[in-house]
Amino acid sequence: MTKTAIITGASRGLGLALARSLAAAGWNLVLTARGADDLERVAAELGATAIPGDVTDREHLQRLARAAPELDLLVNNASDLGVTPLPPLAGYPLEAFRVLLETNVTAPLALIQATLPALRAAGGSIVNITSDAATGAYEGWGGYGATKAALEQLSNVLSAEEPGLRVWWVDPGEMNTRMLADAVGADEAAAAADPAKVATALYDLVDSRPASGKVSLQ
Ligand SMILES: NC(=O)c1ccc[n+]([C@@H]2O[C@H](COP(=O)([O-])OP(=O)(O)OC[C@H]3O[C@@H](n4cnc5c(N)ncnc54)[C@H](OP(=O)(O)O)[C@@H]3O)[C@@H](O)[C@H]2O)c1
Repeated sequence: MTKTAIITGASRGLGLALARSLAAAGWNLVLTARGADDLERVAAELGATAIPGDVTDREHLQRLARAAPELDLLVNNASDLGVTPLPPLAGYPLEAFRVLLETNVTAPLALIQATLPALRAAGGSIVNITSDAATGAYEGWGGYGATKAALEQLSNVLSAEEPGLRVWWVDPGEMNTRMLADAVGADEAAAAADPAKVATALYDLVDSRPASGKVSLQ
């Protein structure tokens, strides 16, 4: 039977690469990102459903959930890097930190809540994309890293509360994407892994469905 996944942040980077892997394996996909043109181009390429919007918009998340009444996999991949150049915590702009928390923690939880009935019915899976910045003391990465630490613990507790599901919180490692280029510059980012290679490892995780837990892909 055809399986269905929702992927946030699927217009480029890791989300796009995972969408390509899942589409090649015959999955039915519901994809989102804010930029409608890029997302619709991807959806046309993959025969997927594009629902453009911002993950911080609760109505948008309800639209995503309604588009996948039968759901096997939710991938919370969309994420905000925050202020660049990455500021030390001593001067971190607090309004920007609130936006980070909303995008990287509250929105994934809201989409989990909206899709839980369908995921429970299917005995499905949730992937929450985190980062080594969740635990590493990297200067400048405190705002973003704190949100990823929160997403990891949220996933950890969710895995205990929902034993019928698989819940993985996944550190993809450094990848050559726009987010990394925005953080460290294009030259340094170019030395990082190809997101397509990382997506292959992520596809293997989703396909093999090991027990819930933390996963590092590199
Ligand atoms: N790249 C790395 O080295 C690295 C390392 C560790 C962890 N990660 C994590 O890996 C994941 C993927 O990152 P990436 O490097 O692939 O980033 P990316 O290339 O910048 O892609 C981010 C995707 O998310 C979408 N997006 C961003 N904010 C959104 C919002 N508020 N609502 C809806 N969609 C939104 C973007 O499209 P729009 O801008 O059009 O909305 C885009 O499709 C993230 O969770 C990131 O934290 C990345």
